[in-house]
Amino acid sequence: MLHQDIQGKYFLSYEHIHLSVQALAARISASGFDPDLIVAIGSGGYIPARILKTYMKKPILTVGISYYGPDNKPAASPRTIQWIDEVEKKLAGRKVLLVDEVDDSRVTLEYCLRELLCHKPSEIAVAVLHNKKKEKRGTLPPEVRRYFAGEELDDRWICYPWDALDITTHEKISRSGLAPQ
Ligand code: G4P
Ligand code: MG
Repeated sequence: MLHQDIQGKYFLSYEHIHLSVQALAARISASGFDPDLIVAIGSGGYIPARILKTYMKKPILTVGISYYGPDNKPAASPRTIQWIDEVEKKLAGRKVLLVDEVDDSRVTLEYCLRELLCHKPSEIAVAVLHNKKKEKRGTLPPEVRRYFAGEELDDRWICYPWDALDITTHEKISRSGLAPQ
């Protein structure tokens, strides 16, 4: 196993994430879904979307949404940081792959899907690196018929390499399983 379960948290290396995205791209392709464009939910979805582009070769649009406020506590509802605005017309009649890093409560994902569906894509599918196995507060709208999760994980905090202040230590922990000092 590449990622390690340490002190109740998962530490994931860049290599592990890149390999997960590669496998995810292969599954999306094998399903017959060929999106016209990728929409990344910032900020967690940016890097997974960019790695997907390496395998899927589709343009990336981004939306910025945060469910956590500046104090790092969950807000009452997701807040838009930046929305699609003038590019939203690019969604009409297109097949869209919405990408985020983690499906946690599903609240942000639902909010985002409902907003994007207003712009009449011909299909919208979801790809996340990780789905946490837990009761979800948000629901996927019925229009979403394809959902891809790279891995199903227990409901624990996931430490992603892009959040690391000390990436050298993060990578060591995620590879060796040594607990942080
Ligand atoms: P969901 O719809 O995708 O399930 O997201 P939810 O509303 O539950 O909000 C989840 C927020 O918490 C997201 O951050 C997500 O990145 C972050 N999050 C949830 N679980 C984990 C975890 O295990 N590890 C990490 N690192 N983050 C987690 P956000 O407010 O949307 O901002 P951003 O970090 O994506 O910029
Ligand atoms: Mg996020």
